[in-house]
Amino acid sequence: MRLQGKVAVITGSAQGIGRAIAETFANEGANIVISDINAEAALKTAEEIKAQYNVETISSACNVAKLEECEDLIKVVLDKFSKIDILTNNAGITRDNLVLRMTEADWDAVIAVNLKGVFNCIKAVSKSMLKARQGRIINIVSVVGQMGNAGQINYSATKGGVIAMTKTCAKEFASRNILVNAIAPGFIRTAMTDKLTEEQKQTMSSNIPLARLGEASDIAKAALFFASEDSSYITGHVLAVNGGMYM
Ligand SMILES: NC(=O)c1ccc[n+]([C@@H]2O[C@H](COP(=O)([O-])OP(=O)(O)OC[C@H]3O[C@@H](n4cnc5c(N)ncnc54)[C@H](O)[C@@H]3O)[C@@H](O)[C@H]2O)c1
Repeated sequence: MRLQGKVAVITGSAQGIGRAIAETFANEGANIVISDINAEAALKTAEEIKAQYNVETISSACNVAKLEECEDLIKVVLDKFSKIDILTNNAGITRDNLVLRMTEADWDAVIAVNLKGVFNCIKAVSKSMLKARQGRIINIVSVVGQMGNAGQINYSATKGGVIAMTKTCAKEFASRNILVNAIAPGFIRTAMTDKLTEEQKQTMSSNIPLARLGEASDIAKAALFFASEDSSYITGHVLAVNGGMYM
């Protein structure tokens, strides 16, 4: 058990990559906070993980775009567990369009969740982690934050921004033994990529050296590495989990 007794908060964890990370951490003995804007789904996921892995779980409805809600989330967790060892910033959305057609509302929505949401959660958790003189922060970014992608000016800007935030926080928190790293997934099979047509998925796979989309579990295994003692001398790193599509 690599995370026995640890407390892990995962945003956007009712489904998809966040849920896979929550299950992987629970399987290693961590107590889990399922936080999501979808309260009903979060509650269901928390109950299922508690039953399956025999760990403590709580669910909390939280829109990461709202600082107050992030502060409330952290308070609820500290009241219950008295500490937070691991924060995984996973909540994210897309509102894709070409620059010319993208609305201001779509730009603002993605910035609010994917960029400000990460700032909000890190700010909210930082006090308790700094006091504890230990912690792990794992930011889920994207290959498109590294290489760009036509039709995703808003999304790629947020993911590139979070890579910069990862390095900044890694420097700011290192003296208190809080390690901050990012995982940059390629194309992973989840609800987010289910929106794509079969043709788009085929085209994508043909550009991936490992010739397939990734699974949520591929990302969860990388998150476990950053949450565990195995990565205790690594901070400010961006780990590509993309089947080789960008090197
Ligand atoms: N699927 C991919 O191919 C892929 C690739 C690269 C990066 N990512 C990133 O991985 C993360 C998870 O993506 P996924 O594919 O599992 O997506 P998903 O849509 O399956 O899950 C996202 C979850 O976030 C929640 N969420 C949305 N807005 C929220 C908000 N404002 N506050 C709190 N929760 C909110 C949703 O309710 C949902 O449960 C995202 O940050 C995404 O950008 C995904």
